Amino acid sequence: MKILSVVGARPQFVKLAAIADAAARRDDVEHVIVHTGQHYDAVMSDAFFADLRIPAPDVNLAVGSGSHGRQTGAMLAAMDAVLEEQDPDWVLVYGDTNSTLAGTLSAVKLHLRVAHLEAGLRSFNRRMPEEHNRVLTDHASDLLLAPTEVARGHLVAEGLGDRTVVVGDVMTDVCLRVAAAVRQEAPRLPEGIDADAPEGFAVATLHRPDNTDDPVRLRAILAALQDLPLPVALLAHPRLVARAAEAGVPLAGGAVRVSPPLAYPELVGAVSRARAVVTDSGGLQKEAYLLGVPCTTVRTETEWVETLDDGWNALVPDPAGLAAAVTRRRPAGERPEHYGDGHAAERVIAELVARAGTLR
Ligand code: UD1
Repeated sequence: MKILSVVGARPQFVKLAAIADAAARRDDVEHVIVHTGQHYDAVMSDAFFADLRIPAPDVNLAVGSGSHGRQTGAMLAAMDAVLEEQDPDWVLVYGDTNSTLAGTLSAVKLHLRVAHLEAGLRSFNRRMPEEHNRVLTDHASDLLLAPTEVARGHLVAEGLGDRTVVVGDVMTDVCLRVAAAVRQEAPRLPEGIDADAPEGFAVATLHRPDNTDDPVRLRAILAALQDLPLPVALLAHPRLVARAAEAGVPLAGGAVRVSPPLAYPELVGAVSRARAVVTDSGGLQKEAYLLGVPCTTVRTETEWVETLDDGWNALVPDPAGLAAAVTRRRPAGERPEHYGDGHAAERVIAELVARAGTLR
């Protein structure tokens, strides 16, 4: 049976690592990887394939950056020929990026079966491009691989319950495996941050357009980070670097030290040792939860609502609230296994094999 994975952006490479590994352990599965080229810098793409030992993509569409329509359209235009040539039993799409939507649309129009990994997440915030990508992908897909019961509930509410199966979260598989592998290593942090200093340090990332693209808001968030009473390692996404330069706002200053995005094992190592995480990323909220580090999310809502239980994650869209949130006491409560047991990818492959040939 042939599974064709469509990926393109950073968090998808992490999920792909788990799937590629689970697929390689079965001799009845052929796994083909199509990289759209949405992310292309070495730190945003190649490093993930090398560090997570993912086989090199079989095809790279090399679409690069652009407005949503141009980028998604370029992927669509390039995908037809690849899917026709490969003729897979399943097209597997991941998460909620423009690459996800393009892979889905191309496949359904060619009458190929589509399975959506990480189905059923909702922020209910229609300003997020990811929200449209997820809703459209879920409704077009044949099989919805939900990470949690909350996600299943959203799909049932939208009339998609009979296509849904809860498999757990494949990011858990990778995060726990990598955390165990890097436990003994000293974290790589921007110069000026001492991992062993008694006050600890925070890891921060920002890349959502709602936070980066309005210069007034960006300035306020950066000022709040710079005023935090502990050192902050700001791992700067290219969009953040570009928007801050356009707005004339320096990233470094006060508590903040800056570095480019880290490789995945380095990120997991840094978060494991941090006292706090500040982010607007979806994946990092969950990684902080899995690693037992309190997270402050600079957004009005989260798709990963389970992380809010017992205060492990806090939604703080107003920069004025950041200092109080970041220095809050570490929750005493347990962290239930909301995100699966670390074996989600095996379940995904088993579901795809079991359902091959039943739908077309
Ligand atoms: C994309 C996803 C988002 C995901 C994020 C993870 C969409 C709509 N958004 O957002 O859901 O959380 O990836 O990182 O698909 N750039 C580079 N080098 C790169 C890639 C991007 O310099 O390798 C710069 C370009 O200026 C580009 C900008 O970053 O315009 C944004 O990249 P893009 O892929 O459009 O969106 P992300 O913000 O990365």
